[in-house]
Amino acid sequence: MQKKVIVVKIGGSTLGNHDTTLEDLVELQKRGKSLVVVHGGAKVSSEWLARLGIPTSFVNGLRVTDAETMKVVAAALGGLVNKELVVAIQALGGKAVGLSGCDGNLLWASIKSPEMGYVGEIVAVDPAPLKLLLKAGYMPVVAPVSFGSVEGRVMLLNVNGDTAAGEIAAALAAEKLLFLTDVDGVRDGSQQIVHKLNLAEAKDMLASGVASGGMVPKIEASLRALTTTKVVRIIDGRAAHALRDDVSRRARQIKSGGTTIVSE
Ligand SMILES: Nc1ncnc2c1ncn2[C@@H]1O[C@H](COP(=O)(O)OP(=O)(O)OP(=O)(O)O)[C@@H](O)[C@H]1O
Ligand SMILES: [Mg+2]
Repeated sequence: MQKKVIVVKIGGSTLGNHDTTLEDLVELQKRGKSLVVVHGGAKVSSEWLARLGIPTSFVNGLRVTDAETMKVVAAALGGLVNKELVVAIQALGGKAVGLSGCDGNLLWASIKSPEMGYVGEIVAVDPAPLKLLLKAGYMPVVAPVSFGSVEGRVMLLNVNGDTAAGEIAAALAAEKLLFLTDVDGVRDGSQQIVHKLNLAEAKDMLASGVASGGMVPKIEASLRALTTTKVVRIIDGRAAHALRDDVSRRARQIKSGGTTIVSE
């Protein structure tokens, strides 16, 4: 039987910063953990769009993506960010292979809504390439660039990293989905961190608008993952060894920091 997998979404907090997340990934891999990394990189994509003079905007945490923007996002996420992560993990002694949602048919998507342009909604996940890499001892590092049919043509589609992580966790029936981000959890209406959410409470956060911007795809992805994944954690990736400590911690002690989302 395949070992239980931990899916780790790394976001803006880790990319480009010298935090301990990559060290933790390598340490956990050496301890025998099966890890799948999914990364974002909104800031890097925005930087390159700005350099090229392409204006950009977000709706509910998702980038409105026209044809030119799609090319830049694919180059920035599937190219630069993905390769820099893989190389950094290898330099620390880890074994990693970078791939995107296009590779090995991993993430098949369709247009989410015409107003958003080439933003993809994932319709099918084929986890076979991930399983193959894990079995061979590699940590797959996934760029959330995806593909799908648009008016009869197969095109690249831009999928949010959180969405991709949620779908991948669901497809792998992961033991845990961990979001490393730049806040120390989900805040309620009075700006207090909520330590634990069940499905209904997480849905309320979306409906009330308490979760907005980049938190929206995280909560939606959590709901999706929890169809098969036992637990989702949203934690501050900027804190030293946040990842290692979270994976090492026993379920009972999970209260300190971050938000835990479970089915009930
Ligand atoms: N209720 C909330 N609780 C906590 N953060 C919230 C909430 N609502 C909105 N946010 C915003 O969500 C942001 C996190 O999402 P964001 O997309 O910016 O980062 P990321 O997903 O970690 O990085 P990337 O998008 O580069 O992968 C926080 O910095 C915060 O501004
Ligand atoms: Mg985000």
